[in-house]
Amino acid sequence: MMKHIKFMSREKKTIFSPVWDYDLAIIDVSDEVDIPWLRNFLLEKEKELLLKYPPCTDDGGTRLGINSVTSKYSYYTIWEFEELNFLKELIRKYHDKFLNFIDQDPGKIYSQGWYNVMRTGEQIKEHGHIISPEYSYLSAHLTVACENTSTYYRNPITSEVFEEENSPGKLTFFPSYITHYTDAVVSSKERITMAFDIYNEVGYNEDIFDDMKYRWYEL
Ligand SMILES: [Fe+2]
Repeated sequence: MMKHIKFMSREKKTIFSPVWDYDLAIIDVSDEVDIPWLRNFLLEKEKELLLKYPPCTDDGGTRLGINSVTSKYSYYTIWEFEELNFLKELIRKYHDKFLNFIDQDPGKIYSQGWYNVMRTGEQIKEHGHIISPEYSYLSAHLTVACENTSTYYRNPITSEVFEEENSPGKLTFFPSYITHYTDAVVSSKERITMAFDIYNEVGYNEDIFDDMKYRWYEL
């Protein structure tokens, strides 16, 4: 079942009043994904990615640091791993349901993705996924493993945060420009989340450099 949450400003009372209108969609896909298998796959792949790619100071603004698998995100895209092809279909399916729900035509979509493994004391600091504001489309999170953490999505005008408790198998779509952060991990078990950026056809054609298009897979 999809939970749809709308964030909308009240009627403008002055010419200078800000306006916002955006949507989040939250779906439990735990019965469609083999979460224990996915957890193990990502932990094994973490070892490989940490060995394969050199240190990079760009961790996407998460502040997880130079030793995190997050900081390898610019070297690869999650869609290179054929074992994860089923997730392309899953994201496509729920993206389309979300768009249909808000009376929009789903159209073609393209995605790149990465993942985060956080251990005791680690926290994703506030950041957004925007490339160019005018082409901003959707991003998504899939929680794979967690214990007592939430993700917080901030309204860019009011600064209010919407808290979404994490649970394995929860898929959340949000506009890419919405900044977000997480709680620190207090458990001794890893918190694992996957992240996907999605562009529509116009964004893919006009805002992704040709030499970067190889990272974006059509879903
Ligand atoms: Fe993020």
